[in-house]
Amino acid sequence: MPAHPLLTTPFAPDATAAEIVRDVDLTGRRAVVTGGASGIGAETVRALAAAGAQVTIATRRPEGAEPLVREFAASTGGGTVRTEALDLADLSSVDAFVRAWRGPLDILVANAGIMALPTRTLSAEGWEMQLATNFLGHFALATGLYGPLREAGSARVVVVSSGAHLATPFDFDDPHFARRPYDPWAAYGQSKTADVLLAVGARRWAGDGITANAMAPGYILTNLQRHLSDETMRAFGVMDDEGNLTPLPYYKTPAQGAATSVLLAASPLLDGVTGRYFEDNQEAPTVPGGEDATGGVAAHATDPDSADRLWEYAADAVR
Ligand SMILES: NC(=O)c1ccc[n+]([C@@H]2O[C@H](COP(=O)([O-])OP(=O)(O)OC[C@H]3O[C@@H](n4cnc5c(N)ncnc54)[C@H](OP(=O)(O)O)[C@@H]3O)[C@@H](O)[C@H]2O)c1
Repeated sequence: MPAHPLLTTPFAPDATAAEIVRDVDLTGRRAVVTGGASGIGAETVRALAAAGAQVTIATRRPEGAEPLVREFAASTGGGTVRTEALDLADLSSVDAFVRAWRGPLDILVANAGIMALPTRTLSAEGWEMQLATNFLGHFALATGLYGPLREAGSARVVVVSSGAHLATPFDFDDPHFARRPYDPWAAYGQSKTADVLLAVGARRWAGDGITANAMAPGYILTNLQRHLSDETMRAFGVMDDEGNLTPLPYYKTPAQGAATSVLLAASPLLDGVTGRYFEDNQEAPTVPGGEDATGGVAAHATDPDSADRLWEYAADAVR
């Protein structure tokens, strides 16, 4: 990470996405939010569209996004919401999405994700599924949409990472767990480190007016936990004996979890800022990382050489 003063904003950690865009006008701006039909993505879509943007929800399940589409069809605020099919774990689907895109793209929020698949699962391309979905699919999407992003003049890419990146550097020798034992959390953490490195690697686009930043949304109960066993959910303290879910006191709502995404996507405070990592609506300090790290961004996720190496690796993989 370059030595620079950390960017601060007036927004509290528990601010909602709506608060971030209260004074922001996105009329005429076009945005894509992957995984925008549920959880944090849906709240990101809602805030961007409420600020006037034309938002495309890129989703495997367009029918799941219908309530949001209807919500904005009835609104008079100027923002619109539409859906387009996208499966990030299938390059032919990413390619079809890119080919169908017409005109400039002002905002790309790489939000979709899956977490802690219990067994090693492979994508259509034979890649470990979390790396395929969370990183490689988004890399193919962002680089495929480079032309439309450049055309926008001052586009922003937001990469939704996670604090889970702190424990796991990217393993260039065996990214798909072909030779080392599969570990659900190591695979998730690695994919989220790759997400931060994607934003750092995209600093090469600064001359085209395209900025890219990564973020962690905090802890939010969403569909993301679908692959975790009841035993694990109980161990986390969020499930009682009857199977009821209750967030812990420091958990955020989806609308609070979406705030940092929306800050990076839309706030004028981020004009010209690129290659950085945010949490709780502030830029995060660089930390050594490791199993015990609880906040900040790990040095292994912001190293420019690793970012460039990963960019080359991914460009070759998705070619
Ligand atoms: N919740 C948290 O505590 C937390 C913490 C840190 C980071 N995050 C990150 O936040 C992001 C959003 O997660 P969330 O918590 O809002 O969970 P979520 O509600 O499960 O949202 C994830 C979205 O990703 C979509 N998705 C999954 N696989 C996909 C694929 N192959 N192609 C296209 N879309 C796909 C899902 O669509 P389907 O409905 O079709 O599966 C879903 O809409 C993720 O990147 C996650 O890693 C979340």
